[in-house]
Amino acid sequence: MSDIWNKLQENHSAADGRTIISLFDDPERFDRFSVETDGLLLDFSKTGIDRAALDLLQDLADDRGVAGKRDAMFRGERINRSEDRAVLHTALRASGSEPLIVDGEDVRPGIRETLRAMENFADGIRSGRIPAAKGGAFTDVVNIGIGGSDLGPVMAVRALSPYHNGPRCHFVSNVDGAQISDTLQKLDPRSTLVIIASKTFTTIETMTNAETAISWLKNALGSKAVSHLAAVSTALDKTAGMGISPERVFGFADWVGGRYSLWGPVGLPIMLAIGPAEFRNFLAGARAMDTHFLTAPADRNMPLLMGLVGIWHRNICRYPTRAILPYDQRLAKLPAYLQQLDMESNGKRVSNRGTPLERSSGPVVWGEAGTNGQHAFYQLLHQGTEIIPAELLVAAGSHEPSLRDHHDLLKANCLAQSEALMLGRSPEQALEMAAALGYTGEEQRVQAAYRTFPGNRPSMTLAYPLLTPFSLGQIIALYEHRVFVEGAIWGINSFDQWGVELGKELASALVPMIKGAPAEDKDLSTQALIRKLSV
Ligand code: F6P
Repeated sequence: MSDIWNKLQENHSAADGRTIISLFDDPERFDRFSVETDGLLLDFSKTGIDRAALDLLQDLADDRGVAGKRDAMFRGERINRSEDRAVLHTALRASGSEPLIVDGEDVRPGIRETLRAMENFADGIRSGRIPAAKGGAFTDVVNIGIGGSDLGPVMAVRALSPYHNGPRCHFVSNVDGAQISDTLQKLDPRSTLVIIASKTFTTIETMTNAETAISWLKNALGSKAVSHLAAVSTALDKTAGMGISPERVFGFADWVGGRYSLWGPVGLPIMLAIGPAEFRNFLAGARAMDTHFLTAPADRNMPLLMGLVGIWHRNICRYPTRAILPYDQRLAKLPAYLQQLDMESNGKRVSNRGTPLERSSGPVVWGEAGTNGQHAFYQLLHQGTEIIPAELLVAAGSHEPSLRDHHDLLKANCLAQSEALMLGRSPEQALEMAAALGYTGEEQRVQAAYRTFPGNRPSMTLAYPLLTPFSLGQIIALYEHRVFVEGAIWGINSFDQWGVELGKELASALVPMIKGAPAEDKDLSTQALIRKLSV
């Protein structure tokens, strides 16, 4: 295996000084370095990967057994080794009827039953068949959850606003009382449904916000408050303890990871917002990507190729971050969503076997909607000292046909950025510009230096016809599988998250000290900060 890594490194070194644009001397480059499935196009031709490197990356995937690991995941094997669990979020969107056995039981009937129960509930809320305490339909829904119990629904609800035809959805995640206070003060408890979403039903932020929301409901509704509550969890014993009636509780199994959970009950706010039929289209988009991932040949397999490009940038080029740049305002929450999906999954330093990794694993993921980012951090993307591979997302069409000029401008900006990153502006061109502006001598050189763009900075573009429930499902499933491919190559467990535990433990221990208990066993900085923060 190290032989393949070495060959990749040699390929990279040998290409030192070669420009990305020169790779387009190969007239077939775009065809070879792009892939399309069900209308979704991934163009990775504007990267420094050449044919030899791509072949080596495919060898690496073979060597690391990516296809076998993929099949094991879809079969329901316990690939989440540290938690001894299967990883089957794909089953939530599958249509197959052949049994899928986990722990000796076919899980498909339960998945179908839960989906039907969600649909029945969503239809009831949306139509007013399940009325609010003051009579009439619920007007608003507040989803209380954090991490995977928040980011997916927030991202998808915002992404699909043209499809909204149900109650307004609001999201409270932060334990900071500012968020729940700002949210609830705009709402009428008599027409607001509160969903408490927590896989474990122990997460302190969510439990704290849930208590506050329940008090808010009780103040207005008294004993009828429970009729304004629903819960989403794997811990059905704990939801019962909160007095939520069983027909308002939507369960899922531990083989659905939090950050992979929006396809099932955690997606209830999405279903309430867009309706069950469009939610099924969302699932269908993800299912189409699953089928593609399982069946497309390696050189046409979008998640595999996207993962291999990621490996190239992270391990061979050693770029520390990747930027997610949706030229689609409705995907403004996608970078935040992908931060959890990618960094909680692949931000690991030991292998599946608990040994230190020999190579870097997941990069820092960040981003912002284009064009806003252009007026903020793109300066660094174009002329900073770090190279940051960019991932641009853009739709051919928009939901605002009367604003065609806006969309044309948006698309032009998207294409301009990937072009500028690749081509840059040469010192000669910059000198000409400076001369045209009247600069001479040393000042001309200085002015030209400011205006020089090194270029040769890689980007990928994901293009889709229109942001629909189907295409959103495809895009999210694509990113899930890309994370899987990278994790498989690094040999890590992409489905646990031990790194979030320590902070939680320390926070619990600090609460009494914040309230005045002695803190002398804490370091001097923490002690001083406790004093500074006491009011
Ligand atoms: O703290 C991290 C985490 O465990 C995430 O993995 C998860 O999505 C989030 O907390 C919320 O967990 P829960 O759904 O159990 O409240």
